[in-house]
Amino acid sequence: MTDRIPALRPQTLAAQGMGRVAEPYRDIVPPIHVATTYERGADLAFPGGRVYSRADNPSYDQAEALLASLEGAASALLFASGQAAAAAVFQSLTPGDGVLAPRNMYWALRKWLLDFMVPWGVAVDFYDNASLDSLAQKVRARRPRLIWIESPANPTWDITDIAAAAALAREVGAIVAVDSTVATPLLTRPLELGAQLVMHSATKYLNGHSDVIAGALATARDDAAWQRIRYARGGGGAVLGPFEAWLLLRGMRTLHLRVAAACANAQAIAERFHGHAALAQVLYPGLRSHPGHVVAARQMHGGFGGMLSLRLARGEAAAVAFTARLRVFKRATSLGSVESLAEHRASIEGPGTACPTDLVRLSIGVEHVDDLISDIEQALA
Ligand SMILES: Cc1ncc(COP(=O)(O)O)c(C=O)c1O
Repeated sequence: MTDRIPALRPQTLAAQGMGRVAEPYRDIVPPIHVATTYERGADLAFPGGRVYSRADNPSYDQAEALLASLEGAASALLFASGQAAAAAVFQSLTPGDGVLAPRNMYWALRKWLLDFMVPWGVAVDFYDNASLDSLAQKVRARRPRLIWIESPANPTWDITDIAAAAALAREVGAIVAVDSTVATPLLTRPLELGAQLVMHSATKYLNGHSDVIAGALATARDDAAWQRIRYARGGGGAVLGPFEAWLLLRGMRTLHLRVAAACANAQAIAERFHGHAALAQVLYPGLRSHPGHVVAARQMHGGFGGMLSLRLARGEAAAVAFTARLRVFKRATSLGSVESLAEHRASIEGPGTACPTDLVRLSIGVEHVDDLISDIEQALA
């Protein structure tokens, strides 16, 4: 989809779902297309332009167009989940290709890369996301086909300099793909910084209500590589249901309001608890003390995201006890929704995790910030 209206601001495009109305009734909200198949003409052509819903579904059109517009992309695709979106990128590679991925990244994707892509013949190596030198050295030594970036990255919110990584990628002809789930297209536009692909777990901020599992990719160029990714979606069958696509568009219409509220709440909470006696560290890129703050201030606009982590001074038992005492935050995994969530992250990642065991990950929602602050205060006491 290339349906861009450059004169309108992202907030307007989001609120109006691209401003489209649906024929023939002029619906302000798009209908849901549940058909799996579409009638052929007597001449065997497809006059409606659709063939079979594993390849494409009209229910995706508006959400894909909106995401492409928000990212400044040539095209966007919805997937059955964030993992399915990421998997399509890696499956579009060829055995023998090299991938550089960050050491700190969404753990389930890291595990999937090692369990599926490595046996399939893709050479996966990891760089230190907080160190451009580490990335530069690995890029020049390994000359990868693909550099995967997650910024801010789970669960310490390390920041990778996307523009600098893209310059390194150009030296060796690599593709840069950015998991921008936490930044959202409102805070960072990776394609403008030189990336070719952006990935979202649309389960998180794009949808924003903890009621849809979905994923998305956006591309700088609608080229052969993008068509291969499209084929990975349709051929592999990692397709989103039409109702989920409809819910996703509904969620995206308030993306700007939710992201702004979550960023403001997270910044206030980070500042309030930075230096607290019960905490060894507050990890949030909006704090000057965060190692990625300077780069984040350059590549994130309008806020530093809604994700922060607390490291408890007294270690793992204190971290688990802290989550047990929370009353307003819900103890649950996931992120990017209107309600605030807290999670002892090492527990979900399981044995072998690199996540510090004293770390509690907070996904800050859009509640009144004073209620969130009081809840953390009483749980730390
Ligand atoms: C940063 C990030 N990327 C990717 C994913 C995977 O997305 P999904 O759960 O929609 O498959 C997640 C899920 O937690 C995530 O947090």
